[in-house]
Amino acid sequence: MEPITSIVTVDDAERAAEAALTPEAWAYIAGGAGDERTMRWNREAFSEYRLRYRVLVDVTSVTTETTVLGTPVSMPILAAPTAFQGIAHEQGEVGTARGTAAAGTLMCLSTVATATPADVAAAAPAAPRWLQIYVFKDREVTDEVIAQALEVGFSALVLTADLPVYGRRDREERAGFVTPDEAVPAFAAAAARAVTDDAALGLLEAGLEWDYVTELRERWEVPVVVKGLVTAEDAALACEHGAAAVVVSNHGGRQLDGAIASLHAVPEVVEAVAGRAEIYVDGGVRRGSDVVTALALGARAVLVGRPVVFGLAYGGDSGVRQVLELLRDETENALALLGCRSPDEVTAAHVTRAHPR
Ligand code: FNR
Ligand code: LAC
Repeated sequence: MEPITSIVTVDDAERAAEAALTPEAWAYIAGGAGDERTMRWNREAFSEYRLRYRVLVDVTSVTTETTVLGTPVSMPILAAPTAFQGIAHEQGEVGTARGTAAAGTLMCLSTVATATPADVAAAAPAAPRWLQIYVFKDREVTDEVIAQALEVGFSALVLTADLPVYGRRDREERAGFVTPDEAVPAFAAAAARAVTDDAALGLLEAGLEWDYVTELRERWEVPVVVKGLVTAEDAALACEHGAAAVVVSNHGGRQLDGAIASLHAVPEVVEAVAGRAEIYVDGGVRRGSDVVTALALGARAVLVGRPVVFGLAYGGDSGVRQVLELLRDETENALALLGCRSPDEVTAAHVTRAHPR
């Protein structure tokens, strides 16, 4: 499929996705928790910063390329783990893997995916890929998913820490969304072994503590990333437990409504981490100018969740590629106009709060 020329921005992709989906699927993908305040704040936070661009810098050659945990990527923008991609498009996670690889960046596969790690690896063998971890009460189910993924070249484990229990998804409930449990291989494995008849997400462990980060790190020989924290305290704990990176994230406003916008948590996390780990942020990134704002505040890269799913929904793998490439192009343009030739040249001096406190 050719890219759709009327899709110029992520917001255009969002409208095309809504038109392509059932109301239930749309409620799940686009919605947040509660009154969706945190989801809105994630977006609004970017408007609370102003860029301090520099002039008369030679920007004849600008690159968006960078690395994450040593892995080269075409842009400081990664595909966030998002569950159940088969409800967005029949290609599901395989489409996301192809589209992300075509755009030259990295995909993080959700534990609760509608494809297996092997399917994703086969779809884009040469592309970098990380596995997001949800831990089932029956730990062996999670261990099996991890073992399968590492066998096919997944190179980091991203432990999502902000879903000990599922958020109050009022929009999902109103729309009557139900999780497609039978289409999720990890759920099938968990259900087959479960002693209770809990619904799928009820099979996840609510009792994890920080020692699990150490356990993961010691058991599997790949870097561990902790995703879903928004405080200096937790960032320090992540470093003490050996995390190679953290993702400052409130799960796209889908968990605790009222939580701080993730962008606003970046400065305190940068201070607490003090160079011990890489820092990424997600939540509300929709523009290249958002990407450079996050970089200026000290993030090394951003993740995008819904934008990738929007692309998948309207266009399968080509939609994913189109959305990631438009974000890359916007980021390249923002870098040039900021007076930076690469992501590394973006510094704290490139941003200021709109209303200094
Ligand atoms: C998510 N997110 C998520 N995170 C995770 O660690 N595992 C998962 O399975 C999912 N599933 C999921 C499904 C859907 C439909 C969405 C929208 C999000 C959260 C995701 O990784 C990321 O933190 C947010 O999506 C970032 O916010 P934006 O980019 O969507 O605003
Ligand atoms: C979600 C989960 C499954 O946000 O991560 O819907």
